[in-house]
Amino acid sequence: MDTRDLSAHVPYRAGRGIEEVARDLGLDPESLVKLSSNENPFGPSPRAVDAIRSHADSVYTYPKAVHTDLTEAIANTWDADPQQVWLCPGGDGFLNYLGRAFLAEGDSVLVPDPGFAYYPMSARYHGATVDQYPITRDGDFEQRPGDVLDAYDGHRIIYLTTPHNPTGSELTLSEVRAVAEGTDDETLTVVDEAYGEFTDRPSARDLIDEREDVTILRTFSKAYGLAGMRLGYGLVPTAWADAYDRVNTPFAVSTLACHAGLAALDDREHVEQTVETVQWAREYMHEHLNARTWESGGNFVLAEVGDAGAVAEATQEAGVIVRDCSSFGLDDCVRISCGTREDTRRAVETINEVLGE
Ligand SMILES: Cc1ncc(COP(=O)(O)O)c(C=O)c1O
Repeated sequence: MDTRDLSAHVPYRAGRGIEEVARDLGLDPESLVKLSSNENPFGPSPRAVDAIRSHADSVYTYPKAVHTDLTEAIANTWDADPQQVWLCPGGDGFLNYLGRAFLAEGDSVLVPDPGFAYYPMSARYHGATVDQYPITRDGDFEQRPGDVLDAYDGHRIIYLTTPHNPTGSELTLSEVRAVAEGTDDETLTVVDEAYGEFTDRPSARDLIDEREDVTILRTFSKAYGLAGMRLGYGLVPTAWADAYDRVNTPFAVSTLACHAGLAALDDREHVEQTVETVQWAREYMHEHLNARTWESGGNFVLAEVGDAGAVAEATQEAGVIVRDCSSFGLDDCVRISCGTREDTRRAVETINEVLGE
């Protein structure tokens, strides 16, 4: 038996896990520093861990009330109606739900190049074709509304990422507004703020009150340290918020994810410690890496290192895992996630040693 033709669907290649790498290299996982997936170096909030433990015995029931509680808690933080919060299994889940809600065979979408691989993947599942707008090194990876609008040709969805993965560049609120204003009423602008906690720039949240054609993606995977729980959400305009019940996979967000999310939202200290360390680590990398880097609003820094594959392999052998950005089309760059102060110092030292060889 065959699947349908999936030849246009490029497989998603995640960064390798610490256990996998340790096994391959015959090393103790504890001795490795993993800075390749933009995870939280402090782990999850201790309150989230307690919540997961204490609700473990309730997982035999479907998540109902706790789903409502988390939706309301998130709505409160954004001063939005609970209906405007689409809880999803990760930010990736929100991209899927948008595909289900907006895309039909023959539609087209516009994605950044370089950019997050799941935008085109999730769109193609719904028969959409994919075009790209450039974010160029010549322009220091700055994101310009003009470049997006030049590439725009009636696409059904445009994906903006701010802060942008993997370059770290950002858009201002007025730049996001310019894209939404410069496109048709039936074009949805998705503002992916997966790294939104790490920047001082304002969220595009206000736009969803102003307009029906903008939506925002947020996640618990980064600043909240819950990547393994798979918890994210979208903030959507009221005009089409009720579509959630028609596109949501029943009970897709698990009981434990909801409890962990609620507890993590309550732990401001954990998020503040994380953000403060990220700000320190970005500056440290800019100052001390013997490589060209770019200003980043995210919890990572892009560095130009020559042969990215060879550098990533050599640092990995020395116990530091960074992301080779060849899969983003940047074969001379690695992306280094912000670690604890100790891990960041070790990563910089290791990369500098490899570059000096
Ligand atoms: C730009 C961007 N958007 C969305 C996501 C999805 O994150 P998650 O599905 O873990 O919430 C990621 C994950 O790395 C990302 O880098």
